[in-house]
Amino acid sequence: MLCLRVPSDERWILHARAHLDEVLSDHAHCEMKAAANALSLAARHPGNLPLVRALSRLAREEMEHFERVVEELERRSIPLGAPPVDVYAASLRKVIAAVSAPRGISPLVDRLLVAALIEARSCERFKGLAEGLGDEHEGLRAFYRELLASEARHYRDYVDLAKAAAGPDFEGAVHARLAILSDREADIVRGLAGRGAEATVHG
Ligand SMILES: [Fe+2]
Ligand SMILES: [Fe+2]
Repeated sequence: MLCLRVPSDERWILHARAHLDEVLSDHAHCEMKAAANALSLAARHPGNLPLVRALSRLAREEMEHFERVVEELERRSIPLGAPPVDVYAASLRKVIAAVSAPRGISPLVDRLLVAALIEARSCERFKGLAEGLGDEHEGLRAFYRELLASEARHYRDYVDLAKAAAGPDFEGAVHARLAILSDREADIVRGLAGRGAEATVHG
């Protein structure tokens, strides 16, 4: 799916079904972090107004998602709780920082590609929830069907923003970089699955 090299381990959805409250709480935090990340990127590049506008739009959508997940928490009397550590996202950023970037791949391009990968994996996990939750959660399944379409679009938006940031001469370099990052992302997902599933969106 999208740029992903490996599907999520099937144990993840079984674990998520059994710990849905925790997954929902983590999901709310993921949406808020996605918005915060987009705004932090925008704040660092005030000279690039098309980028700032696109990131602001993305952040607004992520906050809408956040509010809808919080409504779901309230309906189910689930506390939001403190944000769990996102080992997946932290590992991805660490690994990417360690892979030296070729000409044309700026730190901004890397950050946009990392964001694209996180969107792609979120989309895949939401598909898992849309298809894997029981019939008693039909409302929630419909919500995840809608969200997975948004996150797929965000994936494409971030890849397009990375290409725009690199410029037309480096489009090939952006695709090559994304391919490398996708390989690393697959290693991280395999590693996390080996540790046993966690009740988080990316765990
Ligand atoms: Fe979202
Ligand atoms: Fe998103």
